[in-house]
Parts: sequence; structure tokens; C-alpha cells
Amino acid sequence: MRFTSKLVSALAMAMLALPVAAAGNKITLGFAQVGAESEWRTANTESIKKAAAAAGIDLKFSDAQQKQENQIKAIRSYIAQKVDVIAFSPVVESGWDTVLMEAKAAKIPVILTDRAVDSKDKSLYVTFMGSDFVEEGRRAGNWLVGDLTKNGMIKNPVDIVELQGTTGSAPAIDRQKGFAEVIAKYPTLKVTRSQTGDFTRAKGKEVMEAFLKADPNIQVLFAHNDDMAIGAIQAIEEAGKKPGKDITIVSIDGVKGAFEAMMAGKLNCSVECSPLLGPQLMSACKDVLAGKSLPKRIQTQEGVFPAEKAAEAFPSRQY
Ligand code: AHR
Repeated sequence: MRFTSKLVSALAMAMLALPVAAAGNKITLGFAQVGAESEWRTANTESIKKAAAAAGIDLKFSDAQQKQENQIKAIRSYIAQKVDVIAFSPVVESGWDTVLMEAKAAKIPVILTDRAVDSKDKSLYVTFMGSDFVEEGRRAGNWLVGDLTKNGMIKNPVDIVELQGTTGSAPAIDRQKGFAEVIAKYPTLKVTRSQTGDFTRAKGKEVMEAFLKADPNIQVLFAHNDDMAIGAIQAIEEAGKKPGKDITIVSIDGVKGAFEAMMAGKLNCSVECSPLLGPQLMSACKDVLAGKSLPKRIQTQEGVFPAEKAAEAFPSRQY
């Protein structure tokens, strides 16, 4: 009898020492989402929820409504609830060190998805999975240079306006940088106006209306996401101009709404940024809890869709 109880407690101790996944318990993941600002974000949320259900992971999900303080609150509540893993897509790049140190002190691994943080201490998170936003900006710039060259416009001054994403967010900072890097090689190309549209259709429309009032000669719009481009298309039409013809438009994401706009001849190019990070995130959670080491950076593979390829690609688009 005494031997049996000793054996049982020895086994229980061994189970406690095992990582959660190996012990066969259900993993609990706390995910702090940015918000629901765009078609991209909705697809990202769906991907995470679907993948968690398929992987048998218990998902605690919160929507921060594009506010950093809400994300910090959510992360603190996941720490208090002692979840197994925390994942989040940081609304802005800076200001995360304190809460990340709290997660580290509680021994809860943190996975960054979609957007990066600018923390110097890389031990505060396990891995960062998502797109290369600088490269997306470059791809938009390269597509534009190719299009202007094809149309014989590259040698004349070109008036470009830019709709930036959320101020301080990694995609807004990086996409602006990548695009600027490319167009800097062509002295005729100038970004004459650049303002945030906060990644939303409503703001994209509002800012484009102001741009059009201030400058009747806009030739190109670079929007940091498709939703702002779609809002801007409305503003351009209401101003009596033809989007995609009078004003060339290039944006980023590759959501279905952008493909529809391309097929209608109103958008010229969308650079892909995949929101389908759910399955990758769930396997990373399992791996980290099983004690496997993960690469510090897991990069998403993406393409570029000019309008002439939209109809062919549309049926196979997943978001
Ligand atoms: O972080 C990814 C960006 O956030 C997407 O490009 C944009 O649509 C979203 O809101």
C-alpha cells in the first residue's frame, strides 16, 4: 500500500515536471488581437480561431480595438489566468518591455504574430511569425516603377500620395520605408502628401478626400493596405475621377475586396500579405511547450497581383 502511494506521488511529480503538451493536457493560448480594422484582420482572426479548434487548443481571444492599453490589459489577464502560451499582434512597435518582462517572470512563453516589437531584449519572446513589411513596400514601389516605365511616364514628374497605416505600427513604418527606398532611385517620382488612414476604409476615404481637394494633379496613390485603397476609390469617384485610370492605385494585402476592385478596373495592383497565420501559430505553441527550439523569425511567403492577373487568381483566394 505504502509502495503504491509512493509510486503514485512519484508519477504525479514526474507529470508536473513534463511540459504541458507532452503531459497530454489541453494547451491554453491567450491571444491579444489588434482589432477588427480591416478585411485582412477579420481573415486573420478567423484563421486563428479555426486553427485553434482544429488543433484542440483552448483559445482565449481578446480584441483590443486598435488600442495598446487594451492589449496590455489582455496580456496581463492571460498572465493572471496562467495560460500556457501568450500570442499577440502588437498594435504599435514600442512600449512592450514591461508587460513582456512580466510574462517572462511568470514563465509564460510569448509568440509574436504579424507585427514586430522594437524591444532590444530578444529573449522577451520566443519567435516572430509574419510578413516582411519592408519587402512589401519595395514590391509596391517596384510594381509602380515597372508600370510607369511601361506607360512611358517614368521620365516626367509623377505626383504620388500615400495613405499610411496606423501611426507607430510596424507595417506602416516598414511599408513606407520599403516604398521610399525604391522610388528614391527615380528623381521624377515624389511623394507629395502622406498621412495616416489608420488601416480603415472610412479613414482612407476621408484622407483621400482631403488630398483631392488640396491637389487636383494626383497621379498615383500608394495605400499601406487594401481597405484604405477601397475607401480612397470611393473618394476618387465622388470627386468625378476614374480610380485605376486617372489615378493609378497600388496597395497591400491581397484581400478579396481588392481583387474585386482590380477586376472592376479600379485598383491597379495589390501586393500580397497573408493573414493565414493560424496553423503556423498552433504548431509553434505545441513545439515550444514540447521544449523544441523555434527560429527567432518565421517569415510568410507572398506574391504580387497586378490587375491583369486578378480574374485568374480570384477563385483560389482564401481571404
Ligand atoms: O499588420 C498587418 C496589417 O494590419 C494589414 O496590412 C492591415 O490590413 C491590417 O490592418
